[in-house]
Amino acid sequence: MKGEGHGYGKVILFNEHFVVYGIPAIASAIGMRTIAIVEPSEKFELVDNRPETPGYKKEKLEQQKQSLENIFKAMNLKPDKIKITLSGDLIAASGVGASAASCVSIARALDGYYKLGLDDEKINQIAYEGEKAYHGNPSGIDNTASTYGGLIWYQRTPDRIIMNRLPLKEPVEIVIGNTGKVANTKLAVQGVRERKEKYPEKYNKIFKEAEEMVYDARSALETFDLNKIGDLMSKNHKLLQQIEVSSPELDFLVEIALDNGAIGAKMTGGGLGGNMIALTPGRDLQEKVAKAMEKEGFQTMKTTLGG
Ligand code: MEV
Repeated sequence: MKGEGHGYGKVILFNEHFVVYGIPAIASAIGMRTIAIVEPSEKFELVDNRPETPGYKKEKLEQQKQSLENIFKAMNLKPDKIKITLSGDLIAASGVGASAASCVSIARALDGYYKLGLDDEKINQIAYEGEKAYHGNPSGIDNTASTYGGLIWYQRTPDRIIMNRLPLKEPVEIVIGNTGKVANTKLAVQGVRERKEKYPEKYNKIFKEAEEMVYDARSALETFDLNKIGDLMSKNHKLLQQIEVSSPELDFLVEIALDNGAIGAKMTGGGLGGNMIALTPGRDLQEKVAKAMEKEGFQTMKTTLGG
């Protein structure tokens, strides 16, 4: 008897952080995922075989334990004699949806093991409960991208969640650059809240720009205007710099990407370390940008949007 499930990694193309305040955001699943297997065991065991940014798993251990508790509670389970094994090609790192992918994969594997027959909507709700241990009060964009895959438009207001699939004419190559720094999303989100309260005028202006930009980005994605998408991504990075969630390493990686021909680049996810993405249509450009980052000592992942 065995249960198995997967969850995709993700990148946020527009408006991480702003999404926490009800502003729409755009995210894409990437072609890398986490796989969870649930099997019978003498005692409760969690074996985490995911590749990682050094230090990530240790740093997140307490949050991971709490996340499992949340998942069990949301599923009305009290499992004591199972082994959960995590693996897959998604690197456990900040900014690529690693926590969401693990929550989704575990919920699916438990669903299979206990033959609960849950649909994606329910899996997504359970993963959201799991995500709370990592994020505090998550917007839900990460677990939604991780559950459904593809390119999504996401907005969470106090009374409703809007999730639309966006079309992408064909997969587009991207490079994900890893700062090598494990980041704490909860603290990053909290920092924005504090500064937003302290400097309302400055922050309201930036938030308004983020909101206007995402509608242009949606049109550019729908018409497959890659230059426009790239340009808006770089502008979105500037807004994230202004709310102080970028970092010198993220800014350096963005600079390397743009200097080497990427048509857009930005941090992705919570920031303060973690990962960034560069839009690099075509294998040659993708290779060139990845090489330039690696030459400076950074790890990269080459994958596609909408793949
Ligand atoms: C983290 O991947 C995205 C944030 O916007 C937090 C959230 O949406 O819950 C920073």
